[in-house]
Amino acid sequence: MSIVAVAHPNLALVKYWGKADTGLNLPASGSIGISLGAFSTTTRLRLEAANSGSSTWEVSINGRTQDPERFRDFFDEALKGYSGEPRHIVVASENDFPTAAGLASSASGFAALAGAVNRGLNLNLNDSDISALARRGSGSATRSVSGGFVAYPEKAASARQLHRENHWPELRCVIVQVSSGKKAVSSRKAMEASRTTSPYYPAWIEDSRKLVDQARDAIADRDLDALGPVIRRSYLRMFSTMFSADDPVMFWQEASIRVMNIAAELRKNGIAAWETMDAGPQVKIITLETQVEAVLTALEAGRSGADDWVISVSGIGSGLKVREE
Ligand code: PMV
Repeated sequence: MSIVAVAHPNLALVKYWGKADTGLNLPASGSIGISLGAFSTTTRLRLEAANSGSSTWEVSINGRTQDPERFRDFFDEALKGYSGEPRHIVVASENDFPTAAGLASSASGFAALAGAVNRGLNLNLNDSDISALARRGSGSATRSVSGGFVAYPEKAASARQLHRENHWPELRCVIVQVSSGKKAVSSRKAMEASRTTSPYYPAWIEDSRKLVDQARDAIADRDLDALGPVIRRSYLRMFSTMFSADDPVMFWQEASIRVMNIAAELRKNGIAAWETMDAGPQVKIITLETQVEAVLTALEAGRSGADDWVISVSGIGSGLKVREE
């Protein structure tokens, strides 16, 4: 028998950037994200007899064997709650979107892994505990356990759902993958560079509290005119702490800036199109169902023949799902 867990990436509208505790992986800034239903990670887990007196693990992503050390914190935490016989835990994870390219594959990946391990090892964790376990792998994974609109407060161990996926059915995210390459710097390293060397980092943390409150209200009111400027402030202020770090971190590519300008032009023409970016070159544009066509048309007009952009449209997705096969 194997366990199959499916999770969607969670895109932050208000960003988490910086750790309050690097060991426990607690966030210094609160964040609010949405589940991207168009993308998923599917993770299969099976248990084999252990080769030694303690449990071990092996993980592959899209068929590639991963360094087990990357998963040590996660499995050490998971195994604290396990009292059965030692096992060799075999995990195979598949993403239907680019891995480690700034599309939150670690969010859906660790959420799915936490769900699979919980079921496979009979840990009996509730959603909040699964979210806290996912956090040991990646901060944004904490938000990927729930569907809909999810808040992850500063210094909190787990995230919680603000609204279900049907709260704002018209909301859409147009994802522009300008590059399928892996990111050069991990978000873990980049946020540590911001925290330890940017003079703007304390201001970022202070300011992000306001942004969390403003976004929460705008989402409750389903008001994109109010939410949009908050989305923009959050990602640009997050990147300001990277540009001002020693050494500076630059995830943007020339094409990312072109997509930002396309969104700005759309707004000038009365279309609600608010872009955001994460630790990678991809640009995600938050808009409404009625305006998706205008956004896609502007992107087609603005791309050059040399651009091999992959454009997807997502609504708001559900939370983690786990089944046995
Ligand atoms: O999930 P992590 O620990 O790799 O951090 C990612 C942080 C951002 O994606 C840039 C922002 C966020 O809140 O998801």
